[in-house]
Amino acid sequence: MTFSVVIVAAGSGTRAGPGQAKQWRPLGGKPVLRWSVEAFLAAGAAKIVIVTTPGGAQALNGTLAGLDGWQGTTGGATRALSVQSGLKALSERPLDEPVLVHDAARPFVTQRTIEGLLDTLSDSDGAIPALPVADTLKRAGSGEPLVTTSRDNLWRAQTPQAFRRDVLIAAYAAWTGDQEPTDDAQVVEATGGQVALAPGDPLLMKLTYPEDFAMAERLAGAARITRIGQGFDAHRWGPGESVWLCGVEIAHDETLIGHSDADAGLHALTDALLGAIGEGDIGDHFPPTDPQWKGAASDKFLIHAADLVRARGGLIVNVDVTLICERPKIKPHRAAMRERLAQILALPLDRVSVKATTTEKMGFTGRGEGLAAQAVVAVETPA
Ligand code: CTP
Ligand code: MG
Repeated sequence: MTFSVVIVAAGSGTRAGPGQAKQWRPLGGKPVLRWSVEAFLAAGAAKIVIVTTPGGAQALNGTLAGLDGWQGTTGGATRALSVQSGLKALSERPLDEPVLVHDAARPFVTQRTIEGLLDTLSDSDGAIPALPVADTLKRAGSGEPLVTTSRDNLWRAQTPQAFRRDVLIAAYAAWTGDQEPTDDAQVVEATGGQVALAPGDPLLMKLTYPEDFAMAERLAGAARITRIGQGFDAHRWGPGESVWLCGVEIAHDETLIGHSDADAGLHALTDALLGAIGEGDIGDHFPPTDPQWKGAASDKFLIHAADLVRARGGLIVNVDVTLICERPKIKPHRAAMRERLAQILALPLDRVSVKATTTEKMGFTGRGEGLAAQAVVAVETPA
């Protein structure tokens, strides 16, 4: 199911104290706003509109450098006005498409939350992530005695909140409340719309006060997960004068046969990266039936996989390739291979490993029928 997103980031963050407005401040190594944009992109958002003040429009380009699929627009004096200008900027999307409205001040959006919202929305007018209130509630007024209030049936509503876009636009048009709504669900509730609860997440805390940043800084680690990917490839030996392995051409009395340059090392590594992010395999992205990949240099495939990792806010932690053959001897070329892989992936050398082994003359590699390669990678992405 496609969906689009409005992220409101036009507030001034007065309660968070002096300095830059909270959505632009660094958190766990990147700006607060970038966290949620990356999470929505990774979840497959068709379009993301980010609502800022006129001054913030410039900051957007730096904050979201390298990311595609978003557009900036300017907001209004209140959150409700900012949400409405975000909805307007989505006008070329289908009217009945789900839209997720989100506060930039909640950086840690997870895939599970997004999936839960879209699921819940399929049979309601709105879906919101909510957590049951766990603390005991007290009502305290000036001079009044403390009163304990029941927390039964009370929920803490978070964002993103999901609606069909036409439903939300109509609800805002009909809003006559004299108070500012504090979330979008309230506006839909006021029209008699049925808003359903979806699973909330403690990670979706909102940055409101200065002390929230220290907590969020600690959560920044927990909001990322490490994924492992593995890849395998094999090619048959045939007549030739050189062979490409891990992006390096080695003079040899045979070559590997394949549709592209048959660099089994790069193919295994490409599959490992694709595997780590659940993006299928190399054949899905570069079909062997497609004539444009005939004889292609395989670094293209690896660069594409690495770009996919980065596009979802991922970081390649390390890669480890094993080449399996009796000949040629890999050891004299290992340093060059590591350097080439480090260069293609823009990684420091110590995060790239190339190893080689024979199979003691056993099996197809041992008999010299072909060469095999295995690769394992670790990738860190938003949860
Ligand atoms: N927001 C907005 N336009 C406004 C006011 C708020 O887009 N006119 C956005 C904020 O940028 C934030 C979200 O709405 O992402 C939730 O609002 P809040 O946490 O209240 O942020 P601020 O209004 O920036 O903070 P404060 O109320 O402390 O000034
Ligand atoms: Mg505010």
